[in-house]
Amino acid sequence: MKAVVLAGGFATRLRPLSCTRPKQLFPVVNRPLLDRVIERLVDHGVDEVILALHYMAEKIMLRYQNEFFSDIRIICIKEDRPLGTAGPLKLATRYLDKEPFLVLNGDILTFINYRDLYEHHLKCGGLATIAVKKVEDVSRYGVVELDERWRVMRFIEKPKGEVKSKMINAGIYVLDPKVLDMIPPGRKVMLEEELFPKLARDGQLYAYRYDGVWVDIGKPNDYLRANEKLLEVEAKPHNGVIMGREVIVKKGAELIPPVAIGDYVVIEEGSRVGPYACLGSRCFIGKGCMITDSVLFEGVHVGDYSAIKGAIIGENVTIGRWVKIERGCLIGDGAVVRDEVTLTQGVAVCPYKEVKESILTPCILK
Ligand code: GDD
Ligand code: MG
Repeated sequence: MKAVVLAGGFATRLRPLSCTRPKQLFPVVNRPLLDRVIERLVDHGVDEVILALHYMAEKIMLRYQNEFFSDIRIICIKEDRPLGTAGPLKLATRYLDKEPFLVLNGDILTFINYRDLYEHHLKCGGLATIAVKKVEDVSRYGVVELDERWRVMRFIEKPKGEVKSKMINAGIYVLDPKVLDMIPPGRKVMLEEELFPKLARDGQLYAYRYDGVWVDIGKPNDYLRANEKLLEVEAKPHNGVIMGREVIVKKGAELIPPVAIGDYVVIEEGSRVGPYACLGSRCFIGKGCMITDSVLFEGVHVGDYSAIKGAIIGENVTIGRWVKIERGCLIGDGAVVRDEVTLTQGVAVCPYKEVKESILTPCILK
């Protein structure tokens, strides 16, 4: 089985953290999402993955062309301009043979069974099968209207008005190679805007319902939610605490499950970390700190008596003493937040910026 992973989007909704990495490399419980996606594909019998890249392609290529993933061949294809979600498939045609293949939005954390979806596609006999999921607010997604045989009657991408269905496109598909002939070459083409509505009209689009864990990490809140969900699952067999190698937790410091601590982390006395905190490797947490509902990337330094709640902190950020970082804050890589600064809800700090004064209204610090 082959799979194409779409991983070339600009991830604008995750700025400023995505200014320095594509979202597929954001850690989810301390491992890049794309590592997790590839691993699951291998588990379900995929032996070749094509990564469709554009934005910060080099960062992904560096990792996956050199990293040793046994049992799988990884091919990276870089678009010199963004080709959308269907254009990259046309570009990959020569790597796809006569068999149906999987296509994945690369920004989704899910436990879906890819093999099951593939087999469902073969049974339905259409040109394409898409995984669908029920959600309450459909407006951010592609919406599908189904008949009683699970055929997609209509596909509406990001509907503006009222729609009857609560079923959305989960961004995971099996396509017949004949679909490649329908994609015009050399320009941006969207599956969701051109191909799927047409396939639905032709009665060639089927749905596979999935109701398990599924999160599109494309927005900060959802990225945090993906970490929470996975943390609950992965920490369970470890009594709620995932512990890296050579971690030092000083006396009187407390880990409140579920929590994930990366390698070489140091937590000083009197600090409380968790629940729902992920600390990347080499993080240092000073005395008397409180860290909850947050993700800290690798190498974050937090000074004594600081509090971080519901925030995402980029790689190698330095946070001073007595700092308060509130819900929804996003701190770009390498930024420095000086002693006694408070960042109110929803403040974003650009990479390598130095913040010397408190910010009490939501804004982007450039
Ligand atoms: N190679 C490449 N080139 N990849 C791209 C490009 C491009 O030009 N544009 C977007 N992508 C990748 C993104 O990196 C992401 O992994 C995936 O395609 C989907 O793009 P998003 O920008 O995340 O789309 P979305 O989340 O708004 O909507 C899509 O996903 C929803 C499910 O989460 C649509 O497929 C919706 O229909 C769907 O419901
Ligand atoms: Mg998305």
